[in-house]
Amino acid sequence: MAKKVILSGSTATGDLTLGNYIGAINNWKSLQEEYDCLYFVADLHALTVAQDPKQLQERCKSFFAQYLALGLDPDKNTLFLQSHVPEHAELNWILTCLTPMGYLNRMTQFKDKSSQTKNINAGLFTYPVLMSADILLYQADVVPVGEDQKQHLELCRDIVNFYHNRYGEKTLKMPEPHIGKQGARIMSLQDPSKKMSKSDENEKNFVSIIDTPKKIQKKIKSAVTDSDTVIEFDPENKAGLSNLLTIYSVLSGKSTEELVNEYQGKMYGHVKVDLADLVCETLKPVQEKYHDLMKNEDYLLELMAKGAQKARVRAQNTLKAVYQDTGLVTL
Ligand code: TYM
Repeated sequence: MAKKVILSGSTATGDLTLGNYIGAINNWKSLQEEYDCLYFVADLHALTVAQDPKQLQERCKSFFAQYLALGLDPDKNTLFLQSHVPEHAELNWILTCLTPMGYLNRMTQFKDKSSQTKNINAGLFTYPVLMSADILLYQADVVPVGEDQKQHLELCRDIVNFYHNRYGEKTLKMPEPHIGKQGARIMSLQDPSKKMSKSDENEKNFVSIIDTPKKIQKKIKSAVTDSDTVIEFDPENKAGLSNLLTIYSVLSGKSTEELVNEYQGKMYGHVKVDLADLVCETLKPVQEKYHDLMKNEDYLLELMAKGAQKARVRAQNTLKAVYQDTGLVTL
């Protein structure tokens, strides 16, 4: 039987964080043995905010190298850059013409982002449609994401319904979101009421995958906790501590209950010191591999080209069927 198809990606803005790792990439890695997985760097999505062209180019290579360094195997998965497969932008147009404005108006991420930005472009508004194109081009069965992408996935499912109603059900598959039970929403270190975001202007709010050990230690030790001293896992009343315990739990493989028992009677500072060491230890081999990869640009470009080639064959098949469904003349 054919393996189920998994697809996911990350937008090339800011720096990949522990939130991205725990909420997404760690899950992607665990799926690569059993499924037919496609993982990409969403560079077209990055253009929804103004980018310095040189920095964007560097960041795309850096994200790709971080995917590899974090354990995504280019032989087991299809790893690529979104802009290398032009069918994403083409299907995006077809789907844009099926999506009611009212549905896009409801997107909370657009509301949040547009309230913080002066010059809002149309791409930011239609961002979730391009996301739907990413997913539907590959007939993805399952899309592993963090909690913050849930609404975009629901919109994608609405778009599939619109398409099915107008053109029939044979071409586009209905995808299911997969949101991990633990770590689906890692919070900011300085303000645990909001999510850890890679484009946060205050870099104390997140730990980046490629932060130096010194920075990691400093950021985790200065994470905001409450003024109480009792170690408990209580995300509502002890958001800061619970966030640290969640990160600790995912990285150590111990449950939060085990950790609470282990640290009973100790100070919050003990949790922070041990967690900072664990994060540094976890990221050490990743960073070593990352720095090696970044020295070998030709190799990175070669892998990108291979991945894009594999992805394109599949994307072209879907797009051709979509063009036929919609009444465009295909040659
Ligand atoms: P992005 O780049 O914001 O995040 C990449 C993945 O990381 C998850 N994530 C988190 N998980 C837990 N805690 C956090 N603090 C945290 N921050 C981010 C996100 O949920 C996501 O799974 N629009 C997407 C990229 C995208 C995509 C797609 C994803 C483009 N096309 C198609 C899936 C399918 C985004 O900006 O993710």
